[in-house]
Amino acid sequence: MPRIIPSDETSAHGLEDCLEMLDSVPFEPEDEDSLGNGAVALKRLANNSHFLGDLLIEQLKVGHRGGGIESAYGPQSIVLSRMRGRSFLRANIWPSEQESCFRASGSDAFVYGVPHDHNFSFLTAGYFGPGYGSDYYEYDYESVAGYRGEVCDLRFVERTHLEEGKLMLYRANLDIHSQLPPENMSVSLNIMHIDPAKAWSDQYGFDLDSNAVTGVLNPTSTECSCAVRWAWAATRRWTLPNGRGANIPATGSGWRVSRRAAGWCGGPHATPCGAKPSYREASCLQRKQRRSAARSNAPTRARRPSSRGKGR
Ligand SMILES: [Fe+2]
Repeated sequence: MPRIIPSDETSAHGLEDCLEMLDSVPFEPEDEDSLGNGAVALKRLANNSHFLGDLLIEQLKVGHRGGGIESAYGPQSIVLSRMRGRSFLRANIWPSEQESCFRASGSDAFVYGVPHDHNFSFLTAGYFGPGYGSDYYEYDYESVAGYRGEVCDLRFVERTHLEEGKLMLYRANLDIHSQLPPENMSVSLNIMHIDPAKAWSDQYGFDLDSNAVTGVLNPTSTECSCAVRWAWAATRRWTLPNGRGANIPATGSGWRVSRRAAGWCGGPHATPCGAKPSYREASCLQRKQRRSAARSNAPTRARRPSSRGKGR
């Protein structure tokens, strides 16, 4: 499960002071000194019970004229800072089952009961309320090819809540959680770590009854790239090295063909568990194997100590 970061920090500071601390020591979750600095910065912000309410009121005053930071997140998430170095700050609102937004939109809208890992690490703090709950699992990312229906070795760790003042480090491609709505509306604060290399890692959804992968949750530009390349290829010839391309009739315009290609390459995995791996399944595994081989063949150099497996 996410690493719990103990903290007895009692002082409080505002958003600007928090960002200043993160500017002075950029947040890198695998670096213990940086993680310690981030934990103090976030805990002090979490100790400030007024800053978020004040910020939201100010944003409401000028809401029709903009003023907030635009993001791809839904209304549940409030982006508190732009990217600074390789991290940014975010707040998340977690409605309980009694909230009207929950009743209107349902649990899926807030990712409750949708087991998933993350392809990024983040440090989180309970800011307000009893906190969302989670059933936590761990798994070995490198052993998973990632096709839909693939049964994984998920190891249940425990169910716990993110109560006020609690700090947890979610580790990329290791911790899985299935979230539960809190008893009452709750808020968490996050330092999100953005590692460009992690964009090439998959984020998976899981089915906890079968321990199977339900899909890749972060389609990347790779799928678009495939579609464009295949559309180009469709105007010439439809034979790939493994002969699979010949199965897709090159009829109609390049656009229609590219949509077929994108659906084949980037769409949900339709192959049932246990069936012969498809082109995509094989490519998922080959991609991981290539990454692992590249890492092991890379010139030896000093690496930061990994935080994985400590402090549970
Ligand atoms: Fe999550």
